[in-house]
Amino acid sequence: MIEIRGTGPAEFTERLDTVMGIYTAAMNPPADQIAGRRAIMRGHGANPAFRCLFAAPPDGRAVAFAYGFHGQAGQWWHDVVYRALRERSGVAVADAWLGDSLELAEIHVHPDYQGKGIGRALVHALCEGRPERSAVLSTHDQPTAARHLYRALGFTDLLTRFVFPGGHEHYAIAGTPLPLP
Ligand SMILES: CC(C)(COP(=O)(O)OP(=O)(O)OC[C@H]1O[C@@H](n2cnc3c(N)ncnc32)[C@H](O)[C@@H]1OP(=O)(O)O)[C@@H](O)C(=O)NCCC(=O)NCCS
Repeated sequence: MIEIRGTGPAEFTERLDTVMGIYTAAMNPPADQIAGRRAIMRGHGANPAFRCLFAAPPDGRAVAFAYGFHGQAGQWWHDVVYRALRERSGVAVADAWLGDSLELAEIHVHPDYQGKGIGRALVHALCEGRPERSAVLSTHDQPTAARHLYRALGFTDLLTRFVFPGGHEHYAIAGTPLPLP
């Protein structure tokens, strides 16, 4: 039995070691990127309406986490994606998706616990009760479990083969109206 528990920014910051342990196991990032990613995540905790969920078996040791916050102008991801969507689809579309959005920033399940419904449960729980009219995210534009999960939850592609400034990998930007069906 997996229990999902919600936390705010203070506990999230206290548990950054746990967060990074799960992230590293799930994503296997290059070692030289881990410190930078940790700093970015720490910064995310300061964004408005930040909420993080941890999933843990009965022993209490977290095996998955997901977090999101209210997206708004001035945030790096929001501004980059807003500009790209405006260029591609016009200001009305960019405003409709990003004008009042929950940014689903991270979701990671330890490999030993993947494929058991935890990721799906975390996205549902994170979106539940949110006041925003949409949820948006980016994910590698490849046939991954994440791509499959988001499509199954109703997310549609807003941009594909998108390259973030300074990066080289292809991402998909996806969104769904809230509440989830
Ligand atoms: C993506 C991730 C969060 C999904 O969480 P999860 O707990 O493994 O997924 P779930 O068990 O809830 O499964 C959700 C759906 O994905 C499918 N799925 C799970 N693992 C899969 C895999 N390896 N390949 C294809 N589909 C997969 C499930 O079958 C399920 O779909 P279904 O309901 O149609 O059968 C998790 O696999 C993960 O942490 N991956 C590595 C890190 C990552 O990519 N994070 C997301 C970055 S945007």
